[in-house]
This record gives sequence, structure tokens and C-alpha cells, in this order.
Amino acid sequence: MGLADGKVAFISGLARGQGRSHAVRLAEEGADIIGFDICHDEPSVEYPLATPDDLDETIALVEKTGQRIHAVQADARDADAVQKVVDDGVAEFGRLDIVLANAGIMAITGQQRLMPDAWHAGIDIMLKGVYNTVNPAIPHLRAGGRGGSIVITSSTAGLVGGMSDGSPGVLGYIASKHGVVGLMRAWTLLLAPEGIRVNTIHPTGVASPMVVNEAFGRFVQEFPQIAENLQNPLPVHDNGMLLPEDVTNTIMHLVSDAGQYTTGQTVVVDAGFTAR
Ligand SMILES: NC(=O)c1ccc[n+]([C@@H]2O[C@H](COP(=O)([O-])OP(=O)(O)OC[C@H]3O[C@@H](n4cnc5c(N)ncnc54)[C@H](O)[C@@H]3O)[C@@H](O)[C@H]2O)c1
Repeated sequence: MGLADGKVAFISGLARGQGRSHAVRLAEEGADIIGFDICHDEPSVEYPLATPDDLDETIALVEKTGQRIHAVQADARDADAVQKVVDDGVAEFGRLDIVLANAGIMAITGQQRLMPDAWHAGIDIMLKGVYNTVNPAIPHLRAGGRGGSIVITSSTAGLVGGMSDGSPGVLGYIASKHGVVGLMRAWTLLLAPEGIRVNTIHPTGVASPMVVNEAFGRFVQEFPQIAENLQNPLPVHDNGMLLPEDVTNTIMHLVSDAGQYTTGQTVVVDAGFTAR
């Protein structure tokens, strides 16, 4: 018996990284998956975002578990497109239980981070995009009458400001990741009477393509004081970063019955990072 048997999960940004890890583990635990990913690059971001091939690989990995998946290309900034993804997925699978608002960008490197567009991209994708993802899913959770669990992926940068170099891109990342905590608290109180739980998750550095790339390496060399700030008190894997599946483990607690009385929380997976 799996931790998510018979459930359906809706995940943004599932083509690779943490989103893929959550999708595959949830499928291994018995859930069907609905999701989307932008699958093309963003001018404010130096590193490549996911590709259509990445999305196909996530689809294949989920199908290998024997579960079903409805996953398409869509941009979290496009409310109508996201609404269609979740509506179509629920029409196909018949219910919705879990929502993971995970999609994100790091417009914090290179010359791009100094432009106003980097601020707008961060806020549009990681604050407005989270709203666009969770808001259309709420009626489906309510309609089931079985409660549910929403987890928004923030960051340690959603709790502390130590990563800042004062650029629009970095400030957009920090502000959006703090902003979703407000959304989480408002939805928590609104949805608690119906048994729907809402939490944010705040990982420290995770070895995904968002940070394992040339641009981020250059950024930490350029700002050694920020690199120093990114150290975790607790020893983690050899490269000093978590693995996507470390975050998935905490997600599984929050979306399963083990987490049934946890709501309204800023849940850290940060190896002691925010204890400083
Ligand atoms: N990697 C880290 O160190 C770290 C640390 C803390 C928090 N986070 C957060 O974790 C989440 C997952 O990131 P990751 O580490 O897996 O990185 P990642 O870059 O591998 O995955 C992010 C995914 O989001 C997708 N995406 C970006 N913009 C989108 C949009 N507008 N619409 C739809 N999809 C979009 C990307 O294509 C990509 O597949 C993000 O919200 C990120 O901010 C990451």
C-alpha cells in the first residue's frame, strides 16, 4: 500500500529537478499526476529551463510506475492555460487531492539580473504563478469533499534575506519567495474548515539544473560573501547541496496522512540554514 494510493496530484514545473522527483515518487506511492512546465528558456535567466524532452522523460518515468499522467507545456504566468491543465486533468482522472506549486526560476546571475525584467519575471512566475496554479485547483479540492494538501515551494530565501546583492533579480526571488508565505497563511485559514491543508516548504540549496550550472558557479565566485552565506551548518551530500529526493521526502510527509495536522507552516528542509 502506497502513501498516495488512489490520489491525484497537480504539480507545476515537473519536467525536471524537484518537480520531476515529486511526480515520480507520488506515482510510486500510487497517485496519478497532472502537471505542466514551460519547457522553453526565459530571457531573464542565464541557464536553460526545461525542454520538451525533459517533460517527455518525466511522463515516461511516471508511466513506468503504472500510474497515469496528464502533463503538457504551459506557462505559470498564463492563468487561462494553467486553468485548462488542471480542469482537463481532473476531467480525465476524476478527482484532485494534492497541489504542488513548484515551478520557479533564478534570475539572479549575469547582467540580466540588473534589469527590471528580472524583478518582473521573478514576481510573475513565483508569486503570480503560484496564485495561478493554486487558485484554479481549489474548487477541485473542495468538490471532492475529502480535504487535501497544498504545498508551495518557497526557499530559505523566503525566510531570510542573506542572499541579496541588491539587484532586481535577486530581490524578485527573495520577495516572491516571502510573498507566497502570505498566500499560504491566507489559504490555510480559508480552507482549514474543509480539511484542506496548506504549507510552504523552504529548501536550502538543491542540486538541480537551477543551481548546477555555469552561471550560478560564476555568481558565487563573484560574490564570495553570498557563497559563505549559503553554507549549511549540517553536513549534507558531497557537493554541499540537498538532492531533489531529500525535498520530496518532506513533501511526502506533508501530503500524506502522517502530516494530517500540519497546516499553515513554513516547513524548512534546510540543514540548519535558517537557524543562524
Ligand atoms: N535548486 C535550489 O537550490 C532551490 C533551493 C530552494 C528553492 N528552490 C525552488 O524549488 C523549485 C524547483 O526548482 P528546482 O531546484 O527543481 O529547479 P529546476 O530549474 O530544475 O526546476 C524548475 C522547473 O520550473 C520550470 N519553470 C520555470 N518557469 C516556469 C513557468 N513560468 N511556468 C512553468 N514552469 C516553469 C522549469 O522549466 C523547470 O523545469 C523552484 O521554485 C525553486 O525556486 C530551489
